[in-house]
Amino acid sequence: MNIPHTRPWFPESMRRDILADLDKVMASGQLMGGEFSKTLERQYAERTQTGFGVSLATATTGLQIALRYSGVAGGEVLVPAASFITDVSAVQMEGATPVLVDVDPETLAFDLEDLERKVTDRTKAIIWVHLIGYIAETYRDIQAFAARHKLFLIEDASHAHGAMIDDKPAGSLGDVGVFSFYPTKIMTTGTGGMLVTDDGALSDFAQSLRLFGKDLKTGEIVHRGNDWFMDEFRACIGVHQARHLDEILARRRAAVDRYLTLRRDCDYLRCLAPSASNQPAWYQFPVFADDGIDAEAVRRKMGERNIACKLIYKPVHEEVLFESLAQPGLSRAENSLNQSLCLPLFTAITEEEIDASAKALMEILSEEAGV
Ligand SMILES: Cc1ncc(COP(=O)(O)O)c(C=O)c1O
Repeated sequence: MNIPHTRPWFPESMRRDILADLDKVMASGQLMGGEFSKTLERQYAERTQTGFGVSLATATTGLQIALRYSGVAGGEVLVPAASFITDVSAVQMEGATPVLVDVDPETLAFDLEDLERKVTDRTKAIIWVHLIGYIAETYRDIQAFAARHKLFLIEDASHAHGAMIDDKPAGSLGDVGVFSFYPTKIMTTGTGGMLVTDDGALSDFAQSLRLFGKDLKTGEIVHRGNDWFMDEFRACIGVHQARHLDEILARRRAAVDRYLTLRRDCDYLRCLAPSASNQPAWYQFPVFADDGIDAEAVRRKMGERNIACKLIYKPVHEEVLFESLAQPGLSRAENSLNQSLCLPLFTAITEEEIDASAKALMEILSEEAGV
């Protein structure tokens, strides 16, 4: 058995429906801004209970648009040290300074005390990452912090399609949310992104920036823009994937429930423990090895058994390009990420694959713990 870390989900009936609709796109001759883009944007606005959805080339372009709109250039942006590289590079590309904040290992989101410590009179915005599709139970504190300091709150919901907390969807908790449709994500368009917001002016700005900076009414160039559009082909694939998002989430949640049952008696691990009203999207299912365990060796030994096991991400400041952002006081992010063991998780994972992955992990952990 060779069990990958992730695999996109295109069941046969979905593939048939997509092919029929791609044919319609080609016949229509309208390759951008057509019915499929509009439908995908509506699907995301409805799901996130926001006023506007703007389909984009990637989530990173959504981050750049949100950052530029909020006027961060010359200022500082708070970013969790447990985030994706473009959460940092987008800030730099928009002319601002990323300030890394430590994370709370129970939620993988901001450590609230460090957040307070890092805010200065130059801070303009916050990128709040729902890492692995988990919305922090402390979300109200994060919202209150942003409001208290008058900071623009950007949700990076790239992992959090359909995640909910207290009946509130990811993407509706800040001033703007961005989702990624990269191949590994909960749903995919090949690659692509979506920005959601209640702010009509931001929606207009995003629509202008994705089309070379054109004014939507006059067609004049009013911003330094780019081609950040999602074309109709990808939007068509997205519409079909989004129609099945509830099924995708149900399958992933069932897989995680099974993993949680199987690891019940293991003493060397910690798992996230969502409250009853927290429904993660489970982009990944990480468990966290105790400090005494060599997590890198565990991941390697899983690989030797042909079972993929990865860390969530390296801490951003351990990437060569961002080493200058390293500083004392990010140890909880470093420890959470470096001790993370992400088990295989994808929409069509079978019970046999889950059982084999969990069994291999338990055996290797016992070896590493020397029992
Ligand atoms: C948390 C997070 N944010 C942003 C991105 C970037 O997404 P995209 O490739 O759509 O720009 C990723 C991609 O993996 C991600 O994991």
